Amino acid sequence: MKSKRAKESLSIATDLVLPSDTNALHGIFGGELLARMDRICCIAAQRHAEAIAVTVAVNHVQFGKPVPLGSTLTIEAKVSRAFGSSMEVYADVWTENRTTRKRTKVNEGIYTFVAVNSKGNSIQVPAFIPETTLEKKRFDAALRRRQLSLVLSGKMAAKEATELKALFEE
Ligand SMILES: CC(C)(COP(=O)(O)OP(=O)(O)OC[C@H]1O[C@@H](n2cnc3c(N)ncnc32)[C@H](O)[C@@H]1OP(=O)(O)O)[C@@H](O)C(=O)NCCC(=O)NCCS
Repeated sequence: MKSKRAKESLSIATDLVLPSDTNALHGIFGGELLARMDRICCIAAQRHAEAIAVTVAVNHVQFGKPVPLGSTLTIEAKVSRAFGSSMEVYADVWTENRTTRKRTKVNEGIYTFVAVNSKGNSIQVPAFIPETTLEKKRFDAALRRRQLSLVLSGKMAAKEATELKALFEE
């Protein structure tokens, strides 16, 4: 399988925040944003894997700023690291000023997807090559996030999470 780069999985969704998407403070409802990020991250994972991809974990979500009703919301998702059958996908969320089109980063989410065949069995994915400084930073951190997620879900013993432990020993 040929290794792939982030730009090959880049997936972008731009949409409005409508009244039915909001909470009591007229900002986007957290679950609505989670679903939007999950959908576009799934497309990025599928572009990398060239196969069906299913969400296996939500590694991290940061609701940094409220997103008001009427906002133009753009989510950019791309694979940040591939392992065996699993891929970490990073979603950056932006709002856009209606007049100037200046963008503000408001949120981010990090998801893990697994590539599967038509029977739902996991299959191997292409290796991932980071290129930019940011991609390399996310690539390195992805191993720690994977170990944390596996430890928390009971799929890895804490003593095996060497990359994660190293973080606390620096
Ligand atoms: C995803 C699924 C097919 C994996 O099944 P499996 O292959 O038997 O599971 P494994 O434990 O071997 O894990 C497969 C990969 O996922 C990774 N993984 C599993 N749980 C994980 C977690 N909590 N965090 C990060 N990675 C995880 C494993 O490390 C492995 O990665 P690798 O192949 O790159 O080493 C299965 O769990 C499933 O169908 N889950 C439901 C998915 C779904 O329906 N999602 C939609 C929302 S509910």
